[in-house]
Amino acid sequence: MSVEAAADTEGIIKAFAADRSRLMDIVLAVQHRFGHVSDDAVRLIAAGLEIHPVEVEDTVSFYAFLDRERRGRNRIRLSKTPISMIKGARAVAAAFETALGLVIGDTSADGEFTLEWTSDIGMADQEPAALINAIILTELTPQDVPAIVAALRSTDTLPPFPPHAAQIALMPKGSVRPSLVHPGPLLSGPLVQGEGLRAALTLTPEKVIEEITGSKLRGRGGAGFPTGMKWRLTRKSTGTDHYVVCNADEGEPGTFKDRVLLSEFPDLVFDGMTVAGYALGARHGLVYLRGEYAYLWDPLQAVLTERRSLGLLGANIGGHEGFDFDIRIQLGAGAYICGEESALLESLEGKRGAPRDRPPFPTERGYLQQPTAIDNVETYACAARIMEKGAEWFRGYGTKESSGTKLMSVSGDCSHPGVYEVPFGITVNALLDLVGAPDAEYVQISGPSGQSVAPKDFGRRIAYEDLSTGGSTMIFGPTRDVLDIALQFAAFFVDESCGWCTPCRVGTTLLKQGMEKIVAGRASLSDLSATEALANTVMRMSRCGLGQSAPNPILTTMRSFPELYEARLASEPFVPLVSLHDALREAVAVQGREPVSQEG
Ligand SMILES: Cc1cc2nc3c(=O)[nH]c(=O)nc-3n(C[C@H](O)[C@H](O)[C@H](O)COP(=O)(O)O)c2cc1C
Ligand code: SF4
Repeated sequence: MSVEAAADTEGIIKAFAADRSRLMDIVLAVQHRFGHVSDDAVRLIAAGLEIHPVEVEDTVSFYAFLDRERRGRNRIRLSKTPISMIKGARAVAAAFETALGLVIGDTSADGEFTLEWTSDIGMADQEPAALINAIILTELTPQDVPAIVAALRSTDTLPPFPPHAAQIALMPKGSVRPSLVHPGPLLSGPLVQGEGLRAALTLTPEKVIEEITGSKLRGRGGAGFPTGMKWRLTRKSTGTDHYVVCNADEGEPGTFKDRVLLSEFPDLVFDGMTVAGYALGARHGLVYLRGEYAYLWDPLQAVLTERRSLGLLGANIGGHEGFDFDIRIQLGAGAYICGEESALLESLEGKRGAPRDRPPFPTERGYLQQPTAIDNVETYACAARIMEKGAEWFRGYGTKESSGTKLMSVSGDCSHPGVYEVPFGITVNALLDLVGAPDAEYVQISGPSGQSVAPKDFGRRIAYEDLSTGGSTMIFGPTRDVLDIALQFAAFFVDESCGWCTPCRVGTTLLKQGMEKIVAGRASLSDLSATEALANTVMRMSRCGLGQSAPNPILTTMRSFPELYEARLASEPFVPLVSLHDALREAVAVQGREPVSQEG
């Protein structure tokens, strides 16, 4: 490492006050300054933070967006999901391969380009999409590719990170467009900046929690935990500090409603976080923003700055003596598991995103072992509106056990993909009518970790008491191969397993192999049973929610579409690819005797 590079690295460490818990920021900054985190950088960072180099390596090696070896100056990551595939991602990938003279996974000899697939980048309504040096390009066609490659070749510096609006505008292709198609009570009507917070500050913190509890708001991240209870438990826990964390990891394939909230309604989200800060007695809020959404960094920072200038963040907020609260954004680095709340906390502390053992729960010991409330982006937006309009208003929508409305991210075979705000309790049929999907044959609710729904079940309702969902809604028409889609989901979990526990690490791979055999038409009835039994074992024995839900696409498609599995069974009797006699020939020659026949 040159003297200048060493000085730069030391400058980065200093900028984060040599704070161990800011290791993610430090390695991300080094990655973007030098294109990778070299051995020398690892040593310097370890020395600067007074930790062992293995701890730095441990973090860097975990995340897809951090490299130990130098890769291409321009990083082209193509979104690989069942939705991108049906929208033409393969043809776009082939066009990039031709234009760059590369195959997917490779780096060009001149070090200019790396071309690879990546998991869902949160653009299911605008696929095929790509993440190119942290800039997102959407609705790509093969014809767009030559101009994109030429634009990337036209500079010779490492691209700035996070990307600036001007830099995004230079790309010869449109970037992310607004996705809200159908607003409901949460997102329509006048939205006055800071209104929810002002209403909250007229109440005591205890009363705020009572109001949230009275609204029956349940977490919008998928699990549906009652938010009022979470806030009460966090407030009650003792610690030197309390923390409010916003889960903006949004990694579940097919979901993008948090992106819509953060790009089109950021004030509502920050308002909800500040309400939580007041209710919990917290001074610090943290947004864990998935690395794929780095393009939102500048706009979100601008909103935070404005809120500080308006007295909606900072000291004595809203003139309320002693209520100090501010929000920091932490970027992730490409790991789906970091959406799981305990893995998210590890990542926030600058470590690899491996889930923690529970108990203790984050409400008791969360970020830096202090009481922490982690809620989804949409949950905070709901909390802000509940403070403004009241618990009764919120309970006026939805069902008995699922109050309010839900933001659904709709993609796939429908006329109007995008975000729809619908009341809980809506049937799948009614939702399909709304989005223009009369031919739907298969709907995947709540992403790969959710459920596959067949037409016979389209009368079921979107609600915690029936089809529980974080919002991802992928629609597939009659020409789609349901089993191949289940296989793609199985492959997703292999890629995203953190590898900590054997049932998930090994089980997801075996499940994928089982599905490959089924899709290829080589499976027997007993293979189907074995795959189902293995899926149940992985579900029961895995340590965290990822492994526990990884078998869902297989199990629920087996339940919803048994006829498709049966139709794909091997029609020919089993013919071994290798003859046992031939395989043993060498051993027979060495030993000089024939194997004993079992039939003799
Ligand atoms: C593998 C995995 C990934 C998850 N990803 C997310 C996510 O991206 N966003 C989210 O809000 N919750 C996600 N969750 C759920 C969180 O663990 C947690 O329940 C949620 O953030 C709590 O917020 P809520 O109560 O407002 O829903 C994930 C869970 C698992 C098991
Ligand atoms: S279930 Fe999977 S993701 Fe969760 S700890 Fe085990 S290996 Fe990691």
